[in-house]
Amino acid sequence: MFQINIDMNMKKLLFLLCYSILLLSNTFAQKIIPIETKDFAMAFQTDDQGRLWNVYFGNKLASESDYQQVADQYFFPSNNAGQYNAAYTPSGTWNLSEPALQVQHSDGNLSTELTFVNVETQQEENATVTRISLIDPEYKISVVLNYKVWADLNVIEQWTEITNNEDGNIQLNKYASANLYFVGSDFYLTHFQGEYLKELQPVEEKLTQGIKSLESKLGTRTLLLGSPNFMISFDQQAKEDNGLTLLGQLAWSGNYKIDFEIDSYQNLRLIAGINPYESEYTLKAGDTFKTPSLIYSVSPDGAGGASRQLHTWAKKFRVLDGEGDRLTLLNNWEATYFDFNEKKLSRLFKDTKELGLDLFLLDDGWFGNKYPRNNDDAGLGDWQVNKQKLPHGIGYLVKEAEKNDVKFGIWIEPEMVNPESELFRNHPEWVIKQPNRPAKLYRNQMVLDLSNPEVQDFVFGIVDNLFTEDPEIAFIKWDCNAVIYNAYSDHLQKNNLPQSHLYVEYVNGLYDVLERIRQKYPKVPMMLCSGGGGRADYALLKYFTEFWPSDDTEPIERIFLQWNYSYFFPAIATDAHVTNWGKQPLKFKVDIASMGKLGFDVDLKHMEEKDILFAKQSITNYHGFKDIVLHGSQYRLASPYENPFASLMYVNEDQSEAIMFNYLSSNRWEERITRKPIKLKGLDASKKYQIKEINLYPGTKSTLDESSVYTGDFLMNVGFNPEIDVKRTSVVLKITEIR
Ligand code: DGJ
Repeated sequence: MFQINIDMNMKKLLFLLCYSILLLSNTFAQKIIPIETKDFAMAFQTDDQGRLWNVYFGNKLASESDYQQVADQYFFPSNNAGQYNAAYTPSGTWNLSEPALQVQHSDGNLSTELTFVNVETQQEENATVTRISLIDPEYKISVVLNYKVWADLNVIEQWTEITNNEDGNIQLNKYASANLYFVGSDFYLTHFQGEYLKELQPVEEKLTQGIKSLESKLGTRTLLLGSPNFMISFDQQAKEDNGLTLLGQLAWSGNYKIDFEIDSYQNLRLIAGINPYESEYTLKAGDTFKTPSLIYSVSPDGAGGASRQLHTWAKKFRVLDGEGDRLTLLNNWEATYFDFNEKKLSRLFKDTKELGLDLFLLDDGWFGNKYPRNNDDAGLGDWQVNKQKLPHGIGYLVKEAEKNDVKFGIWIEPEMVNPESELFRNHPEWVIKQPNRPAKLYRNQMVLDLSNPEVQDFVFGIVDNLFTEDPEIAFIKWDCNAVIYNAYSDHLQKNNLPQSHLYVEYVNGLYDVLERIRQKYPKVPMMLCSGGGGRADYALLKYFTEFWPSDDTEPIERIFLQWNYSYFFPAIATDAHVTNWGKQPLKFKVDIASMGKLGFDVDLKHMEEKDILFAKQSITNYHGFKDIVLHGSQYRLASPYENPFASLMYVNEDQSEAIMFNYLSSNRWEERITRKPIKLKGLDASKKYQIKEINLYPGTKSTLDESSVYTGDFLMNVGFNPEIDVKRTSVVLKITEIR
C-alpha cells in the first residue's frame, strides 16, 4: 500500500531539474515556512546551506515576518551533537543526534544530507496540506514532509514520503513519520502502559536529558503493553483545563517507536514512526515509501481542550460513520462463552428484543466442523458454520433475530489460525512461523501472513462470503488475539523479498484487505477488538465504527479505563458493555456503560425482575440521550485519580442539553459522600437550566431538588452536588435549558 510506482523517467527528470536549479542558484535564500493552525504554529527556516530547521513551535504569531526573527534569539550551536532541530534529521554525516532517517544507498554508503527544494500548499475542503520537498545533494533520494492541517481544530496529521531516484535499490534503516522540535524548559510526558485487562494506564513523568522511548515489537495487538498515544504538557504537569498540551498518536497498527529526547539545551526532540526493529525496508529504484501518520491536537486549554479538538476531528474526518448513529447490542460472549446452540440463541434474541436493544451479536464459537470451535484451542481459520451447534446455518439465525425485530451481528477473527484446523493443515505456508524452529502459540493460535496476497484474498473472502450468503448481517466484531512470534514469511522468502519487510507488509496487507471490504461494504458497522483493548488507532478506525477498549468490564476499573481512553477517542467510537463482572449493582454498571456505545453481555435468565425492569428503562433512557453522548462535546469534570469519585459530562452543540455522569469510585468509608459541588463545564453562562436525575432504580427516588433553576454561570462557577453516597453510588443527571 505504501509503495507508489510513478513513471521512473519522469521522476528522474524532475529530480535532475530540481537538483540543477539548486546547484545553479549556489547560495540558498533564507526561506521561512510557517505551518499554522487557529491558535498555534510551527515554523521551518533554511540556512545558507539550504538545510531546513525547525525554528518555532508556539502561539501563532501576528505576521509571517515575525517567524523570520525567531532563530536569531536563540544560541544553540550544533558543533557537539549535530542537528538537534533539523526538520527531518538525517544520519551518517556530521549529525550525531538521534536521526529520523537512516539510509543505505545503492552503493552501500550510509550517509544522507537533506536540503530544501520547494514547498507547495494545497487547499482541501476542510484542511490545508503543505508539502516540503528535500533532497540529498549527493545521492538521488528525495524526502517530502507532509503537514495536513485542520486549522479550526488545531489538529495536524503529518507523514513523510521517501523516494528512491538512484539507479539501484536503497535500504531504509529508519524512516520516521515525524520529527518535531520544541524549545522550552519543562516537558511532562504522559504515556500509557498496561497489560491484558489493564490497558492504557497513564504514567506521567518529567522528561530529563536523554531519550525516553515508547515502542511495541508485538507486531499486532500493539496497545497490549504500551500505546502509541501520548500527551505532552508544556511547562507544567498535565492539567485538564489550562496549559499548552499536545495529544498525539502514531496512527499505525504495527510496531511503533516514539522517541522523546531532551537534548543538551533542554529542548525536546520528538521522532515518531514505524519501529525500525527488524524492519529495514528495501526501496526499489523509482519507488516511494509513504510512512504512517503522526496525528496531534494542540490546545492552550489543557488536556480537555486537546481532547475535544481530537474528538471533533475523529468524528468528522476519521472514524467510519463518525457522525452517524450506533446500534445498541446484546453480546453472548460472557453469557454463553462457547457453549450455545440454536435454542439458547433464540432465547437471547428474545432477550435482546425485550431489553429494547437494536442488535444481537453472536461471538466466538459458531464455526469449525472437523475441528469444532468448542474452546479456544481449535477451529480458528475454518469459517464454516458448526453444523452440530447451528444445523440451520447463519441465515436461519439472521431470520430468527429478524422475527424478533432485532438485527444480527457476528464475530470473526480472520487474521488468525489454530494449528488444530483444516486451514493450517491445508496451508501451513500461510502462517507466520520460523521454518526450522518449534512453533510458539499465543492463546493456542498463530498469525496468518498478511504480506501474502493469497492470504489477503482469504481474509477478504471471510467477510465477503458472510455478506454474500447473508446480506442481512448488520454488524461485524473483528477480533485479533495473538501477537506475532517467530516472525518469518514463506511468501517473502519465495518472492526473494527481505524478511525484514514482514512487520510492515503485514500491516499494509491488513489495510489493503480492509480497503477492499469498505469498497464493497462501505457502511456496515464493524467493531475493532483485540483480545480486549489491543488495537485502537486512527489508521484502523478509518474502517471501523468503534472499538472494544478492554475485556475488563469490572465497573470501577471501567471508570478508569474509559477516562483514559477518552483523552484520545470520542464516546461514539468507544464500546462499553454491561456484564457480570464486579459486585456492584446493575445500575452502577449500566450508568458507566452509558458513557460510551452501550451494550450488554448478560442472560436475562439469571437476572432479577427489578434489574430487568431497570435495564429496560435505562436502555430507553439511553436511546433518548445518546445523541448528546455520541455527538456532543465531552468534559472531564472530576478525575477518579484525584477524587474518591469521577464525574464527566456531555453537552450538545447549542448548549441546551447535557448529561452528567457521577460515580463513587472509592470504597473507603469516610470518602463515600460528595461533600462539595462539582463544577460543570461547557454550558452557556447566560442560559438557565433545570437538573433532573434519570436512570433511577425502580422504587427509588432522587434526593435532589429538581424544581430549582440554575444559571449556566452558577453551575460552572459554583457547581452542583449530585449527592453521591453509599446508597447512590452512581447518579446520572439530565441538564436541560429552560426557555
Ligand atoms: C477476546 C474478546 O475481547 C472477547 O470479547 C471475545 O470476543 C473473545 N475474544 C472471544 O474469543
